[in-house]
Amino acid sequence: MITLEHVSKIFGSGDQQVRAVNDISFEVPDGEICVLIGPSGSGKTTTMRMINRLEGISEGTISIDGRDVTQMNVVELRRNIGYVIQQGGLFPHFTVADNVGIVPRLLGWPKTRRRARAEELLELVGLDPKLHADRYPRQLSGGQQQRVGVARALAADANIILMDEPFGAVDPITRNQLQRWLRQIQAEVQKTIVFVTHDINEAFLLGDRVVLMNNGAVEQNGSPADLLRTPASDFVREFIGDEFALQALEYTYIRELAQPKQDFPGDDEALVIPGSLTVTEASWELTHTDEPAGDGFWVANDEGDPEGYVSYHDFATALSEGVATEYTPDDDVPEDDVTDTDEQREEVAGAIHPR
Ligand SMILES: Nc1ncnc2c1ncn2[C@@H]1O[C@H](COP(=O)(O)OP(=O)(O)O)[C@@H](O)[C@H]1O
Ligand SMILES: [Mg+2]
Repeated sequence: MITLEHVSKIFGSGDQQVRAVNDISFEVPDGEICVLIGPSGSGKTTTMRMINRLEGISEGTISIDGRDVTQMNVVELRRNIGYVIQQGGLFPHFTVADNVGIVPRLLGWPKTRRRARAEELLELVGLDPKLHADRYPRQLSGGQQQRVGVARALAADANIILMDEPFGAVDPITRNQLQRWLRQIQAEVQKTIVFVTHDINEAFLLGDRVVLMNNGAVEQNGSPADLLRTPASDFVREFIGDEFALQALEYTYIRELAQPKQDFPGDDEALVIPGSLTVTEASWELTHTDEPAGDGFWVANDEGDPEGYVSYHDFATALSEGVATEYTPDDDVPEDDVTDTDEQREEVAGAIHPR
């Protein structure tokens, strides 16, 4: 678990002072993806970089599993935190396998073990090691380079991965593939991930939790469904934009609507729907099953055991809320700051092996 308590970052001094991050607090529970989103300059990158201490913390406390990061050895800290940036930040003169094996090499793993680990990870990220392990980054597509970047972050088995707009530099189709792929990978590896983006689609697709930042402060912190159903301010409403009004239900999971209930009457007596379905998917299911008994349906957990209940009344309310929410359109598309690739590589080098 990563915990930020009243964290601020002040750049500069005197009348040149900038409060880039201003008194923010949030938690990232183990195994979850927390997306930091907000307009350019809202403090997302700075917040993320304070976690692995690429930036100092001006005020407040950041801790990992209860341990204050400023009390930890910085080399240890960074080796236990994977870091992925735009274009993967791969070293051009290293092969793919050597890029993936950088941290294991710093950790002193023998060559054969590094190679085996690199091959295992390339498989995991969907690249055939026979074809790709000995290539150089420039011989790969942008999407493939991103996958290698993620493989590298996973190589030393860090529990925490920080990702700063990792898919920002690839075309929209590849980007969408990478997003779906990251969700699948995450289901397998269950890392604790902080993911920075300015793309609301990406945030809702990937985030178990979304922290929306504005001017260095947290505007709202909640599940995608929370932000959609109960936006905390006009800023949130405008940032999300009107295109999402009708899509709220696609990001609301049935398990979020379920009330705990015991005494499951048995499969013959009740309709059971997996909690992992969205409201949209569930309404399709409901209209395609035989007349379900009772005044609602049971919701199964990931193991398939029914443990909650949604009444048709509550389901209908969610459906009508989802389509009734009003949003103010906003034409301001946040612009991404594009950073120099050499600078980015330097930065990754620093993150992996602090000078
Ligand atoms: N090294 C720095 N020195 C001074 N100001 C900085 C520095 N890094 C970032 N800032 C400022 O801090 C604010 C937040 O930046 P950043 O965290 O990069 O935002 P985001 O990632 O949300 O675009 C911006 O106003 C930016 O100009
Ligand atoms: Mg940034």
